[in-house]
Amino acid sequence: MSADLTPCPYGICDGSGFVIDDATNTARDCRCRPQRIAAARARSLEARIPRKYRDVAFDRFPVTEIDPTVVDVVRRFCHDIEANLDAGRGIWLEGDPGTGKTTLAMLVSKAAIEARRTTAIYSLPRLMGVLRESIESEEGLLGLLDRLATVDLLHIDDLGAEHRTDWVNEQLYSIVNTRYEDQRSIVLTTNATADELEQQIGARTVSRLVEMCGDPLALFGADRRRELDPTL
Ligand SMILES: Nc1ncnc2c1ncn2[C@@H]1O[C@H](COP(=O)(O)OP(=O)(O)O)[C@@H](O)[C@H]1O
Ligand SMILES: [Mg+2]
Repeated sequence: MSADLTPCPYGICDGSGFVIDDATNTARDCRCRPQRIAAARARSLEARIPRKYRDVAFDRFPVTEIDPTVVDVVRRFCHDIEANLDAGRGIWLEGDPGTGKTTLAMLVSKAAIEARRTTAIYSLPRLMGVLRESIESEEGLLGLLDRLATVDLLHIDDLGAEHRTDWVNEQLYSIVNTRYEDQRSIVLTTNATADELEQQIGARTVSRLVEMCGDPLALFGADRRRELDPTL
């Protein structure tokens, strides 16, 4: 875990997360240490907004061009981000490629990070990559699954984009089901309809996602990515 030398929010330690007792020359955990650990975990879980989406904002292009009824739902969700994350409510954005789904999902992740909630952002293909790698790592698959299950917000981008295997679907089910039982939020984007997703990742995973995220917010229309760069 990387060092986090932000000042102690309680003004107790030097930013290390430890307090040294001069008399006995021993270190004990500072009150801020659990927060530091959570923040470091989130960072190591790629709680970074990809550069392309780093400056997303409700009052800026392209959000200003996206269907306002969908944007309004996302805006209200972000406004109440703490209560929504506490209740384990999520957001599901479905629709055609290049219509702003990932942009809106990043607004939700950004709001969660700004509220200092632990957040993990993965495209599904990347998530499956790290799951596969984790089998060989020291921490192992169980450690990774545990962290994916316990972050305050898990953002899964492009659900259904990966070539499916039973193993992939089983890991995905395990993550979604644990989060479902613990009432932890998921924000997801997908090009697939709920019916197609059922075929791809299985009905038991999809039914939990529906309950957690509510009805999908639909964004359809021309691929704006192509309009921006016709060579794509
Ligand atoms: N409604 C829109 N109007 C103009 N540009 C848009 C719109 N929606 C998305 N874009 C642009 O299209 C590209 C793809 O957006 P993104 O949110 O990644 O789409 P998706 O996840 O739906 O494929 C980005 O460059 C984004 O700025
Ligand atoms: Mg996308």
